[in-house]
Amino acid sequence: MIIWPEIQPTLQDGDLTLRPTTIEDAPVMYKYIAGDVDIATFTTVPANYTIEMAHEAIERWSNGYADKTVMQNAICIGDGPIIGQVSLQSIDLRDHHAEIGYLLNAEFRGQEIMTRAVSLLCDYAFGIGFRRLGAFAMPRNVASVRILEKNGFTQEAILRNYITELDDTQSDAVLFSRTN
Ligand SMILES: CC(C)(COP(=O)(O)OP(=O)(O)OC[C@H]1O[C@@H](n2cnc3c(N)ncnc32)[C@H](O)[C@@H]1OP(=O)(O)O)[C@@H](O)C(=O)NCCC(=O)NCCS
Repeated sequence: MIIWPEIQPTLQDGDLTLRPTTIEDAPVMYKYIAGDVDIATFTTVPANYTIEMAHEAIERWSNGYADKTVMQNAICIGDGPIIGQVSLQSIDLRDHHAEIGYLLNAEFRGQEIMTRAVSLLCDYAFGIGFRRLGAFAMPRNVASVRILEKNGFTQEAILRNYITELDDTQSDAVLFSRTN
């Protein structure tokens, strides 16, 4: 059984904090997402991102935590502002599995922040009862693949023609998983 706290907890690892995203995070989130080509290319976040989309997403995540369908976490260093996001999504409580997804403000990349954030969220998820975490990455997204490998995920399958690129061509995705 998965123990799902009524209030979304804040997770901490030294100076790294994962906390619920709030509506006050929207302007900062919008600033690092809008116009970031890697985020538009490698995640499902729309390329034409608007501040309204940031507001809608935060409201959806808040409702999603209450519905037990998503746990979206703002990544912060110390008591600083949001610099990225890491989430449990596609949650299936009955079958004890979920997918992990993440993105980081470009200014903070290359410092192992996401490797640590994924580690913290995986430990938490397995701790409350999840038995499998999945993740999708495009093969050329080397940083994302490394994060998964460093966190004990292994390649499970290649999903052919799974993703429509920004130029409307189709590309493969790799499905990774880690089990408990
Ligand atoms: C993917 C992303 C979250 C990485 O975050 P990050 O905090 O910079 O990642 P980390 O520093 O924790 O780790 C990145 C790893 O990839 C490696 N890496 C990064 N770019 C690389 C490249 N071009 N070639 C080889 N290795 C690379 C780093 O060296 C590091 O591995 P190491 O510790 O073994 O040296 C960030 O680039 C991002 O937000 N990208 C856009 C959104 C995205 O792709 N989300 C994931 C969708 S699946």
